Amino acid sequence: MTTNEIRTKYLEYFKKHNHSIIASSSLVPENDATTLFTGSGMQPMLPYLLGESHPLGKRIVDSQKCFRAQDIDEVGDNRHTTFFEMLGNWSFGDYFKEEQITMMWNFLINELKLDPNNFYITCFKGNEELGVPKDTFSAELWQKLFLKNGIAVGIGENPELDGMKSGEHIFYYGEKKNWWSRSGVPANMPDGEPGGPDSEMFYDFDPTDKKNIHKNSKYAENKCHVNCDCGRFMEIGNNVFMQYKKTIARDGIPGFVELPQQNVDFGGGLERITAAVRNDDDMFNIDVFDEAKKLLINKSGKSYGDDEKITYAMRVILDHIRAATFLIGDGIVPGNKDQMYFVRRLIRRSVRFARDLGINESFTREVAETYINTYKNEYKNLDEKSEFILGELDREESKFRVTLDKGMKQFERVVLFGYEGDFMEKTLVSQAVFDLVTTYGFPIELVQELAKERGLNINMQIVEMKIEEHKALSRTASAGKFKGGLGGDGEMEVKYHTATHLLHQALKIVLGEDVNQKGSNITGERLRFDFSYNEKMTDEQKKRVEEIVNEKISQDLPVVREDTTFEEAKNKGAIGLFGDKYGEKVSIYKIGEGENRGDEKLFSLELCGGPHITNTGCLGEFKIIKEEAVSAGVRRIKATLS
Ligand code: SER
Repeated sequence: MTTNEIRTKYLEYFKKHNHSIIASSSLVPENDATTLFTGSGMQPMLPYLLGESHPLGKRIVDSQKCFRAQDIDEVGDNRHTTFFEMLGNWSFGDYFKEEQITMMWNFLINELKLDPNNFYITCFKGNEELGVPKDTFSAELWQKLFLKNGIAVGIGENPELDGMKSGEHIFYYGEKKNWWSRSGVPANMPDGEPGGPDSEMFYDFDPTDKKNIHKNSKYAENKCHVNCDCGRFMEIGNNVFMQYKKTIARDGIPGFVELPQQNVDFGGGLERITAAVRNDDDMFNIDVFDEAKKLLINKSGKSYGDDEKITYAMRVILDHIRAATFLIGDGIVPGNKDQMYFVRRLIRRSVRFARDLGINESFTREVAETYINTYKNEYKNLDEKSEFILGELDREESKFRVTLDKGMKQFERVVLFGYEGDFMEKTLVSQAVFDLVTTYGFPIELVQELAKERGLNINMQIVEMKIEEHKALSRTASAGKFKGGLGGDGEMEVKYHTATHLLHQALKIVLGEDVNQKGSNITGERLRFDFSYNEKMTDEQKKRVEEIVNEKISQDLPVVREDTTFEEAKNKGAIGLFGDKYGEKVSIYKIGEGENRGDEKLFSLELCGGPHITNTGCLGEFKIIKEEAVSAGVRRIKATLS
C-alpha cells in the first residue's frame, strides 16, 4: 500500500462512518497570530471543539499538512521530519470513546492489516487534584478488542517503574504523556484552553529485540516501556478525548470545567502509519521519498543506508525539499523574516548537505519535481503553482551557492587563523567567526555544523554576543545588551536561564570542576547547554544531575545579583565565561547564601548579565531530555522544566 492509498483508505473509511471529508488547511494558520505554522490537525478545528457548529456537521475527517520548525535539528534519524501529514477524525460533540476506539481499531487491524500483536496502547492514569478520573473505560475497551482478535493482554499500572511485564499491551501514564492540549500539560494551559486525556497507539518495530537495544541499555531486564524512547516503539496515533476547559477562578486557583460538548480529536502521522504498514522503522523508506531518493543516489553515485554521514545528508535533503515545496506552495517564499526564514533555512541546509554527497550543481528543482508529481492529485495547488515553486527554489539555491562557495573558502581561512584560549580546546577565533557571519552572510548554524564536523569548537556565547552587539549597533547606534543566550524575555525563558545556572553547577559536581560552559541557547520550551566534557554521560550521571537541580529547586533558594568588578568576581571564584573582555564592571548571580564560591550554603556563583528569577522554587520539575556530542570534547544537554 502506498502513502496515497493509505490516506485515501482512511478518508473513505471514515466517510463510510458518516464523516465529511474536508481538505487540508494551509500551512500558514488563518486567523491565528500566536503561531507561525500549522503544526497539528487540531489547530484549524479549535472553534468547533469549543462549540461552534461546523458547516459540514459533527463528524469530520481530513489529512492536514503540518510543519514543525522546532524539529529541524532532529531531522537525520529514522523518524523525524519537519513536514508531515496528520490524519484526523473529529467528533464535535457526537461520538466519544467507545465509537472512536472501536472504529480506530477496526481501521488499523482490519483495513490496514497491522498485526495486533505489535500494537501497544497508553491511557490516562487520572489525577484527583485536577478532578480528572482514571480512564479505565478506554483501557478496558482496548483490552476487549485485543481479546476479540484472540489476544489476551494485561494492563500495566506503572510502566515507568516496572517496565513492561509479559503479556501487557496497555499502560497507564500521567499527564506528561497522556494529556493533550496545545500548550501541553494542564499546568501550562492558559485560561480557556481546551484539552483532555488521550489514548495513544504505538507500533512495535522490533518485537524480538533483533537490534539488541535492550540488552545493552538501561532497558535491560525488560524495563523498556512504550514511552521510553529507545527506538523500539513508535507512536502512530493519538485519540484525544477533548472534554475539558481550563479555568482560572477569581481566587486564582486553576482547575477544569467540562466543555459544552464531548469531542474526539484523533491525530495520526500518515508517514508513520505507512512505515508501520511496511513494518520498516525508517520513515524515509516509504514510497513518497522513492523518486527523490533515486535522484540523489544517481546524482551522487552514493548509496542510501550504508554510510551514516551520507544517509544523514540524504534524509535532511529529502525532508527539507519536501517541506520547502509544500511551504512555497502555500505562498511562503524564502526570505529573512518569520515563516520565510524557515523556507530559506530549509533550502540552504539542503544545498549545504548536498556538498556532503558531492552534488555541487543545481538539484533542488529536480527533487521538488518528484514531490509535485507524487502529491499532485491530493494537493492540486502544487501542480498549479509548480513553476512558481521551482522558480523560487532555483533562485534561492543559486543565490546561496555563491555565498556558500565564498563562505566555504573563508571558513578555511578562519580555520587557518588558529585558535583562541586553551589550544587543546580548538576554539576558533571568535572575531573571525563573527566576520564570516556578518561580512560574508554565512549562516551561523552552518558555521557551527562545519566546525562540529572537523572537531573544532566555537565560543557561541561570545560570537552571539558580538552578533547581538552588531545588530543593536546597526539598529540604534547604541551598544546592544547581551542576554545570556536568551531568545526573548518571556517568563519561561528567564526560568530556563536560572535553570541553566543550576545545571552548570550540578555538572561540575557530578562530572568534575573541569566542565565549562561552551554555549547556551534558550527558548520558551527548553534550554540547551553546551559544555566541555569528553565522554557520553551515563544514565546514573544524568539522573544525579537531575536530582541535584531538582533538590536546589525544591529548596527555593534566593537568586541574587551583585554588581562588582572583573577582578573581584574572579577572586570570589565565580564561574562563567572569562575568556573575553567583559570590561571592568561585571555582574554576578548567586544562588543560595554566601559570598564566595565554595561557601557551604552558596550553590552557584556565576558571571552573567541576567535576567533571572528571584527564587528557584518556581522553576518546576527539571528533566534532561537529551545528552549528545556536539564536537570533540563538547557535549550538549537539552532539558525542560514542567
Ligand atoms: N491534537 C492531537 C495531536 O496533535 C491529536 O490530533 O497530537
